[in-house]
Amino acid sequence: MNSLRDYFQLDPDIVFLNHGSYGATPRPVFDVYQEWQRRIERQPVRFFQEEAFPALCTARTALAAYVGARPEDLVFVHNATFGVNVVAHALNLQPGDEVLTTTHEYGACSNAWETVCAARGARYVRQPFTWPVHDEAQLVEELWQGVTPRTKVLYFSHITSPTALTLPVAMLCRRARAAGILTVIDGAHAPGQVEIDLATLGADIYTGNLHKWFCAPKGAGFLWVRAELQPQITPLVVSWGYGPERVHFEENDFISAHQWQGTDDISAYLSAPAAIAFQAEHDWPAVRRQCHVLLSETLRELSTITGKPAPYSVLAPQQFHQMAVALLPAQTDVAALKQRLYREHRIEIPCFAWQGQPLLRISVQGYNTAADLARLTAAVQYELTAIAQQRI
Ligand SMILES: Cc1ncc(COP(=O)(O)O)c(C=O)c1O
Repeated sequence: MNSLRDYFQLDPDIVFLNHGSYGATPRPVFDVYQEWQRRIERQPVRFFQEEAFPALCTARTALAAYVGARPEDLVFVHNATFGVNVVAHALNLQPGDEVLTTTHEYGACSNAWETVCAARGARYVRQPFTWPVHDEAQLVEELWQGVTPRTKVLYFSHITSPTALTLPVAMLCRRARAAGILTVIDGAHAPGQVEIDLATLGADIYTGNLHKWFCAPKGAGFLWVRAELQPQITPLVVSWGYGPERVHFEENDFISAHQWQGTDDISAYLSAPAAIAFQAEHDWPAVRRQCHVLLSETLRELSTITGKPAPYSVLAPQQFHQMAVALLPAQTDVAALKQRLYREHRIEIPCFAWQGQPLLRISVQGYNTAADLARLTAAVQYELTAIAQQRI
């Protein structure tokens, strides 16, 4: 695999297999980010009063083309957590309303929904489905067992955090639309890892991160809202673009309301076109494919070591892309293993229990090599053997 390692600023002493948690930014994109920051500092007044909005418009237009959207339907937000919070607070949930979700959601975003639901007398309903998933139609059916006449919203991750599973977004959105249920998608892990075409995906609301797989600097995400729903989605932070003393920013109401939330460092947003250019220069579809092949091989090897099958259907290669989980033996002390993988083997990788099942979540980005993954499999084999021998 042709490594892009030199472009990234990661500690060379660490095998970094956790792109999924916070991402990592290639140097050329980071340089553009810092250049924006310097530009702001050179003349803050001119920048914010004259340059910021045209620059945001340029960046938004580039991002919109990347995710198959119209530029007037998306705004930058700092992260997916923020995007979910905006939506959860803005939807006019009433007592008795239900927000249906899966048991695979990211805790911080579930906290947002739980908080809003508790305040409004609504219910946040976590519906399980059979995992590993062998049949996506069955997943939809199982999730639908949680639908009631009170279900107003279906909320789920495009790619789940604890199980690194790509959910059948289009299928779920189609079914929800037919039932008159609003769909809100948490795309924290999707931009950059999978192709997104919001024009055809069928979602009503989609929030995504740019600082993970898209390779933008930290603090860059977006919120996309279908045009007819935009009037409902009021801003979480009210500033100059919304309210009686509204200043017209020469954008539509949705952009005006959300784009300016007080003085802020918008450099990460403005670096989005540089991240898109970086991907284009390095043939990102090919990078993704190579990462997926490497990850698939690693899952097979880990499966041989642990005696546990990979939790993805061989019939559905689209269930994972550059991030996947491997099952660990039932009694694995995940905290101890994570610590040993870091301290003894210099591997940064999340190792945790999800619903009682110990898991290792592996992220493979363009900077990873076959040698990185070989180091992981060797380390896991060594540690599991050591644990087994201690028990005997
Ligand atoms: C599925 C999912 N949603 C939301 C988030 C939150 O991302 P952020 O902290 O950038 O808001 C994460 C973070 O890993 C995630 O995995």
